[in-house]
Amino acid sequence: MAKPAEVRGSSSRQHADRIIRNAVIIDGTGAPRRPGDIAILGASITGLGQLDGWTADEEIDAAGRVASPGFIDPHTHDDRLLLSGPEMAAKASQGVTTVVVGNCGVSLAPLVSSSVPPPLDLIGDGSWYRFSRFADYVEEVSAKPAALNAACLVGHTTLRVATMDRLDRPARPAEIARMQALAAESLDAGAIGLSTGLYYAPAIAAPTEEVIAVAEALEPRGGLYVTHMRNEAEHVLDSLDETFRIGREAKVPAVISHHKVIGMSCHGRTRETLARIDAAMKVQSLGLDCYPYVASSTVLRLEAVKLASKVLITWSKARPDLAGQELAAIVETLGGSVEDVVAQLQPAGAIYFTMSEDDVRRVLAYPHTMIGSDGLPHDSHPHPRLWGTFPRVLGHYARDVGLFPLEEAVRKMTSLTARRFGLKGRGVLAPGAYADITIFDPEMVIDTASFEKPATPAAGIALVMVNGSPVWQDGASTGARPGRLLKRQDLQAESAPS
Ligand code: ZN
Ligand code: CU
Repeated sequence: MAKPAEVRGSSSRQHADRIIRNAVIIDGTGAPRRPGDIAILGASITGLGQLDGWTADEEIDAAGRVASPGFIDPHTHDDRLLLSGPEMAAKASQGVTTVVVGNCGVSLAPLVSSSVPPPLDLIGDGSWYRFSRFADYVEEVSAKPAALNAACLVGHTTLRVATMDRLDRPARPAEIARMQALAAESLDAGAIGLSTGLYYAPAIAAPTEEVIAVAEALEPRGGLYVTHMRNEAEHVLDSLDETFRIGREAKVPAVISHHKVIGMSCHGRTRETLARIDAAMKVQSLGLDCYPYVASSTVLRLEAVKLASKVLITWSKARPDLAGQELAAIVETLGGSVEDVVAQLQPAGAIYFTMSEDDVRRVLAYPHTMIGSDGLPHDSHPHPRLWGTFPRVLGHYARDVGLFPLEEAVRKMTSLTARRFGLKGRGVLAPGAYADITIFDPEMVIDTASFEKPATPAAGIALVMVNGSPVWQDGASTGARPGRLLKRQDLQAESAPS
């Protein structure tokens, strides 16, 4: 196929599977919006511009609506959802077309274990940890495609659990060698990088040197390093320095996950962290993501409870009936100390109100920040970021608050992310790119998921297309499963989609 070009005027007559007509095109690069049509043939965009002379099997009228690249969620815990909930409605309903799974040190593979420690239980109980090789997971996801595309990280905590008899100590040389081999095997099977969750109990005893050693598997394979840092409170600057050092010594790009500063005494300190990130970017490859809320969410931990002004329980194995309730109210009803109640509810998850709105806005507006949800799809009463992140940035922060133009909001969800993670042919609307497309109403788009009612689809998302096939239309999943697993090798080998 000759390389398609942007078309002006109606001189060339061509036929496509679908044409989106009269759209307001926001192409993902940050360029100003412009009117135009988009022609789709197979999985690709074949024409973009004024396509008056073109015909198609299906014409889609997008008058008054924006057509943008499908959003890429760089921070997800959808490893299991790809298999257990392949329609992925929480994400498709927001306009997301690609997810990066395996964040925060937690990936479903390679690990076989009948009972897993927190935070591995965030994505599944022991019955889901049944892939001894990363290749087995890749094979299963490829054999049963989901609605959305996915790219995978392999988790350092998963590797620790797979390799070590106890997790409260540094790994020994033989264990490090085993983790390196497993990381290499995972990348060879298609993973695009390694994630860590150094904040969490099973990885907190891992010294920086252990992480650097495991990350040595990355550079020869073009992988990247993604981290939930050791500390996001008082010691956040030390954690940034640790992240920069790991990236430099392993000679790979690093991504700081869900960047924030937590705890009242640290409010305002994103001024310092962003300055430090800015300086580091001058000497090494760095990225970061952020979700648009002042509350975080993860497993229930006493240390995190102590930093929060309010805590909501998202799930509890011991007391499932208490999901959705405020911890303070539970303590009042049950009696006893906060410590006792936290222990009684385990294993459990929670939402923590710990950030300042100013910090959240400062990080969101920082030009290098990608939008990522960090949604937890298996919680019984999840943080609303799972269903609301992308429309909240478009409708609340860009349109209503005016934090940045809509074009910039879209860039932070598309081309910036595709470039950072090496997802070739994604994240832009251009002839030759994949037809991952979201059509939304710029006046109407907004999140509806709240802390009280967290699992509701956003308003204003009209049509979401993955590899040329609609997956979300008129408020519902279409049932189509055109998602692809984006393997590192394919991404690096190809220069343009076919
Ligand atoms: Zn995390
Ligand atoms: Cu996470």
